[in-house]
Amino acid sequence: MVFSSEPIGPVVRVGYGEDAHRLAAGHSLILGGISVPDAALGTVAHSDGDAVLHAVADALLSGVALGDIGDYFPDTDPLWAGLDSRAILGRVLELVRERGYTPVNIALVVTMDKPRLGPLRAQIARNVAALLGLSESEVGVSFKTSEGLAPAHVQTRVTALLTQLQD
Ligand code: C5P
Ligand code: MG
Repeated sequence: MVFSSEPIGPVVRVGYGEDAHRLAAGHSLILGGISVPDAALGTVAHSDGDAVLHAVADALLSGVALGDIGDYFPDTDPLWAGLDSRAILGRVLELVRERGYTPVNIALVVTMDKPRLGPLRAQIARNVAALLGLSESEVGVSFKTSEGLAPAHVQTRVTALLTQLQD
């Protein structure tokens, strides 16, 4: 896919990303690069199924209008099978910086019924922050249940604020 290379502005831009995965027994559950202990259900996915890092990557790409991760890491490509999502996010960060922008802060919401994720909030925030070159206070992490409407499902939604890199 070819994206426009025309100069983009203004100084700050907002991005938004989502990701969802089906959950099933016998799979691991990785969120924000953190392996969730004692999860009865894990993500069914082509890559490592990290719904947090995938949505963060899409939020960053959308902020600079560079499409989404499927354009760079197609899930039909065997090369990306089992891919560590930290590598996806690292490449996306490079693309965003090549476009002249860098993240300022992000806000992410994970909707999932079980297990309780609250105890992992700080760990997830710290890990996502480290991957983005941000501090923990620049990564807001919220959890919601689906109120039983989607028990075998994880959904993440992310907003990102980006600012222009200084020369
Ligand atoms: O979605 P709900 O309003 O019922 O969530 C109530 C609380 O449960 C929130 O404070 C949220 O942080 C927490 N929660 C959690 N782990 C989840 C879902 C919700 O810790 N998987
Ligand atoms: Mg509620």
